[in-house]
Amino acid sequence: MRIVLLGPPGAGKGTQAKAISDTLSVVHISSGDLLREHQNNGTDLGKMAREYMQKGLLVPDDVIIGMIQDRIGHSDAENGYVLDGFPRTLEQAHSLDTALNGQGQYIDKVLNIKVSEEELIDRLSGRWICRDCQKPYHSVNSRPQKEGACDECNGELYQREDDTSGAVVKRIQVYAEQTSPLIEYYKGNGNLVEIDGGQSIAEVRKDLLEIIS
Ligand code: AP5
Repeated sequence: MRIVLLGPPGAGKGTQAKAISDTLSVVHISSGDLLREHQNNGTDLGKMAREYMQKGLLVPDDVIIGMIQDRIGHSDAENGYVLDGFPRTLEQAHSLDTALNGQGQYIDKVLNIKVSEEELIDRLSGRWICRDCQKPYHSVNSRPQKEGACDECNGELYQREDDTSGAVVKRIQVYAEQTSPLIEYYKGNGNLVEIDGGQSIAEVRKDLLEIIS
């Protein structure tokens, strides 16, 4: 099964992706995590992407499309995947559809997680992420059992450099301008399902798992 998780920054895509990928036994592919991995490895792609990410802007389409097409070509993605953070522009969505259609494949469901702007800002300003397994936490909504350490792997928790208030406002604006047109695009394709992401983490998970099962 091939799933796209759509939703603004802080909607809970990363939080919910693991439960979906575990349920479907498919790989979770996050474009943001792949870009941060490039940065940590000091690649040219990572250095270039950082300039955009720090400012809350989208990395150019050709770079992202190449990176994701390479990733979904790996053998662990043969049975499907949960795409988190891609596509984010109409050009990215068209490229994905073209690549899939060429192989007789398609996106089964696009899950659009809807959350108010006020809540997004609150979530991102309190977010902490595991440096090793990328699991997200929140200083109020989703605290780790041990301060500063991941429940799953004991990795160090850190705050992303694009979770500053200036970059967050820009990311939400960029989402509205460049990514939200995908909602109509996927509605037209007939595979979009909307989810109330303003509920608790457990309630959102329940809704998502009901839709995919
Ligand atoms: P990316 O890493 O994809 O970030 P994003 O889309 O901005 O999304 P986030 O990871 O911030 O939010 P999320 O929805 O995963 O929320 P989370 O689950 O962590 O992209 C970063 C940058 O990379 C982009 O700005 C761009 O520069 C570049 N990039 C990436 N992909 C690109 C592409 N395709 N094209 C071009 N550029 C690209 O949850 C947030 C917080 O809320 C957590 O603390 C969590 O614990 C809490 N929380 C979650 N759900 C709930 C709930 N239901 N109730 C209460 N709290 C909750």
